Amino acid sequence: MNILLIGSGGREHALAWKLAQSPMLGKFYATPGNPGIAQHADLVTLDISDHGEVILFCGEHDIDLVVVGPEAPLVDGLAESLRTADIFVFGPDKAAAQLEGSKGFTKDLCARANIPTAGYVRATSAADALKALDDFAIPVVIKADGLAAGKGVIIAETRDEAEAAITDMFDGSFGEAGAEVVIEEFLTGEEASFFAITDGENVVPFGSAQDHKRVGEGDVGPNTGGMGAYSPAPVLTPALQQQVMEQIIQPTVDTLAAEGTPYSGVLFAGLMLTDSGPQLIEYNARFGDPECQVLMMRLESDLAKLMMATAKGDLAQTSAPVFAPETALTVVMAAKGYPSTPEKGGKIQNLARAEREGAKIFHAGTAEVEGALVASGGRVLSVTAVGANATEAQDKAYAAVDQIDFESGFCRRDIGWREVTREAGN
Ligand code: AMP
Ligand code: GLY
Repeated sequence: MNILLIGSGGREHALAWKLAQSPMLGKFYATPGNPGIAQHADLVTLDISDHGEVILFCGEHDIDLVVVGPEAPLVDGLAESLRTADIFVFGPDKAAAQLEGSKGFTKDLCARANIPTAGYVRATSAADALKALDDFAIPVVIKADGLAAGKGVIIAETRDEAEAAITDMFDGSFGEAGAEVVIEEFLTGEEASFFAITDGENVVPFGSAQDHKRVGEGDVGPNTGGMGAYSPAPVLTPALQQQVMEQIIQPTVDTLAAEGTPYSGVLFAGLMLTDSGPQLIEYNARFGDPECQVLMMRLESDLAKLMMATAKGDLAQTSAPVFAPETALTVVMAAKGYPSTPEKGGKIQNLARAEREGAKIFHAGTAEVEGALVASGGRVLSVTAVGANATEAQDKAYAAVDQIDFESGFCRRDIGWREVTREAGN
């Protein structure tokens, strides 16, 4: 099976690493890739916004399966264009990717399918939004409707803050993403992520995780793409996972199928575990980054086989994914200044020595310049380890971090704290 992987982050390095272990894999290409992905795949340059160019490449290189890592090309309809050209692809069509591309779309779908989620109102003008605010208690959540790279959500602690957020969004501070806003009731509880893969009809669970979105220790400071994660998330007990499958995932898949826009790929549900049960906060149409890194470390099944079965609509005839019972934990090393202005070009050394500590290092924003590895993005490395529990996985991950020489980098030292605290019985 010849595969083309699209993307360049730690998530895609983890996918590449796992796909490379498949006995089914033939030729393996990635675009644009990164130096970590280059250990497994031939890197090629393609303009992925030019769907015709990607289709042409697939024809010329006998590509059997395209794996789309990030959300932007999905929301842009790349998977759909490939499917229309009879190329198997892991990732949803444009219409189904609206689950991530439009928060309002997802809320309306939840309303139609009776899926537990926070109460909401959609608004397309500042005046309507300000009027709608009257019906919400404070704190209240204000969201830009479209893709805003994880930055389009404001939790307003006062009415003034809520009004300012609305005014800002309609003034264009989030570009097109803020042309419509969703106002949501504020939910309280612990957050957890749940994954499922679906071929449009059949759905199978694909593990749980918890991440750390804030840049600072103790979960403070600005939001990031994610500073670390671990899997599984024991707060999502088997009973709760079953409830999530029955009340959230399955009705989503069924509704999209019934409406003629079936969802194919991975569904990543951000959940709030409230006193009255799990509620959907948001959907993503792709794997999380860095959640993917910890899921791949635990996945024992053949990823290429699962992705192809998903793409072909064969999940019912394929063995369900199996995950190791151990805990995987990943610590993101970012360039100083992240998330606002990460320093570029910082030297990175001693990765091999760090991996000898028993960790796996996934590359995110790295580049090779004159034979040396340097930082080229905000999140740079994802240092990942497996242990009998979160405490052991955390020890191993930080032992590896401590071997890495990356002067212009930093990481949080408390990744996994919720679980580690629980394991200590505190
Ligand atoms: P989202 O991009 O929709 O996942 O939102 C980013 C973060 O905002 C989530 O991970 C939550 O921490 C928080 N959040 C979003 N919606 C709500 C809500 N309705 N109630 C409380 N917190 C929320
Ligand atoms: N780590 C969160 C995300 O990928 O959206």
